[in-house]
Parts: sequence; structure tokens; C-alpha cells
Amino acid sequence: MGIVKCVGILTSGGDAPGMNAAIRAVTRAAIYNGLQVKGIYRGYRGLITDEIVEFKSQNVSNIIQLGGTILKTARCKEFTTPEGRKIAYEAMQRHGIDALVIIGGDGSLTGARIFAQEYNIPCIGLPGTIDNDLYGTDTTIGYDTALNTILDAVDKIRDTATSHDRLFFVEVMGRDAGFLALNGAIASGAEAAIIPEFSTEVDQLEEFIKSGFRKSKNSSIVIVAESELTGGAMHYAERVKNEYPQYDVRVTILGHLQRGGSPTAHDRILASRLGAAAIDAIMEDQRNVMIGIENDEIVYVPFSKAIKNDKPIKRELVNVLRALSI
Ligand code: F6P
Repeated sequence: MGIVKCVGILTSGGDAPGMNAAIRAVTRAAIYNGLQVKGIYRGYRGLITDEIVEFKSQNVSNIIQLGGTILKTARCKEFTTPEGRKIAYEAMQRHGIDALVIIGGDGSLTGARIFAQEYNIPCIGLPGTIDNDLYGTDTTIGYDTALNTILDAVDKIRDTATSHDRLFFVEVMGRDAGFLALNGAIASGAEAAIIPEFSTEVDQLEEFIKSGFRKSKNSSIVIVAESELTGGAMHYAERVKNEYPQYDVRVTILGHLQRGGSPTAHDRILASRLGAAAIDAIMEDQRNVMIGIENDEIVYVPFSKAIKNDKPIKRELVNVLRALSI
């Protein structure tokens, strides 16, 4: 294995608050360890279109507090083809980049895994997604901020729900994972969460209605995880309108506002630790691993595990929500 002299860094897939803190950490830790850094713009697309610039310490000044990603991001179809990856590899050679740090979610790490295998390049992944759906890390960069954004929105929705005695279905992101919905429901004091993980097990709406939620409260908030498996908030609102016309139902889809905003302290610290650990991993000649944090310890998770394994959602959380929403 060759000695790494220059690290390329990119953000890919959906942006997440804390990505900038991670870019800063990787850049500064690399320079601290005597490595050169190249910033690659618009994810893998920037490797194909050659949008690559040298990063000095000043390039990452004053960004730790910013949402989004200064490197921009994209979902790049071309990189899923062998031809696209060949062009990307040639750009890396031209720029003297001999290792890559990829900050992104499931799809981005899948791309990294294939690229690393094809071209024998050391690739290190950092879990950057609001969905928290990567196996091998307790939380992902951006998840905590998105969760806090959900709380802020639900607190406001509760004011109007209470005033009108309404039942609100609030849809949150998460792709096919229910972490944002379930923990968002617990933290906002919502009456129920409908999540994809249990969609085939029980009729979650039926369970909620049967729990007799109207006995103690006139207004209710149900957080629904977006997903084909749940059908989304609209689906449940329609069902209630048809099956229980006595309820006054409204829907709020929080959408992309969950992806923005200044990262919380948790996400900034997580991103800083993971970013510095990515450079440690490169210095140790590690390759093709995602850096995670489990029980407050840095862990190296092989891409194959991080991507393939489903991150389990704790049943205990469902029980807590059930018990506390009576
Ligand atoms: O993976 C992050 C995420 O925000 C998901 O929660 C959501 O399903 C998806 O990205 C939305 O993607 P886009 O911004 O491309 O519409």
C-alpha cells in the first residue's frame, strides 16, 4: 500500500447540518498531519467534471456553524457506471489525490465501496445524513439537528392543534427509516408515531385510534415517517376522514426544512470527532471503512456492514412513547 500524501474530500447525496463541520475537521486534521487536501465540488460529479481545488486551513474558516455544505452536493447518476468512475479515477490521478474522504449516506458509501474495489483507492466514509440509517454508528451527522428542527415545528403545530381540537398528521423525513419520526414523537410529546419498521406488523393507525386517545385529550399529534411502507401522512389523513369523520384532521409535511439550519452542538462535536478520526484512519493505512461512534468510542465499520445491515430501531422507544402518551 502506498503512502498517502493528498486527500480528496467530498460531500454527496442529501446535505445534512454538520457536513461543514466535518469538512473543516478533515481539512484541518489532514494539514495538521502534513497531508495536502483537495476539495471536490458537487460530490462524485465534481470528480467527473473536474471541479477540484486545493484546500488550505483558511478555506474552512468560519464554516463550523453553517448548515448545508460549502462543497455542494449532488446525486450523481454517471458515477454509478464504470465509464463514469473511470473518468473520476483519471481526475484523481491528474490532481495527485491518493485517498478519498466521502461524507454522505447509504448511496454515497455504496459508490465509495465500488470505486475503492475497482481502483484500489483508500476510501474513508463519514456518516452524513439526517436519516440516521447507517449501521455501526449511534448517530449520523445531521440527525440531531433535524430532530431539533422537528421539535421546533411540532411545538408550534401543537399550539394550533390545541386551539382547534384537531388531529394533526405531521410527516417527517427519514427515507425508509423511522428514527426521526419515533424520537421526534417522544421528544415533542406527540401521541403516536407511524414508522416503516412496524408497517407490516400492525395497523399503527388502528392501534392509535383504539388506544382511546380522545379520552384524555381533544387534540392529538401523530408523527408519520415518509416512506412507501407507511404511505405518508396524507394516506392516514384520508383514512381517518373516511373511517372516523367525527375527527377534524389536518396534515403538515415538514419536507426539506428538516435538512437546513445551523448544526447543534451534538452534530458539530460528532462531525469534528469523525472528521479527525478519518485522517487518523488514513494515517493508520485503514481503507474502505466508515467511521462511526458507538458508546462514545470511535469505531471503524467496513463499508459492507454499514451499508448492508439494517440499523435496528429499539422497541423500547416504541413502548416509552406508548406509555407516555396516555
Ligand atoms: O436522505 C436524506 C433525505 O432527506 C431523506 O430523508 C429524503 O427521503 C431524501 O433525502 C430527499 O431527497 P431529495 O432532497 O433528493 O428530494
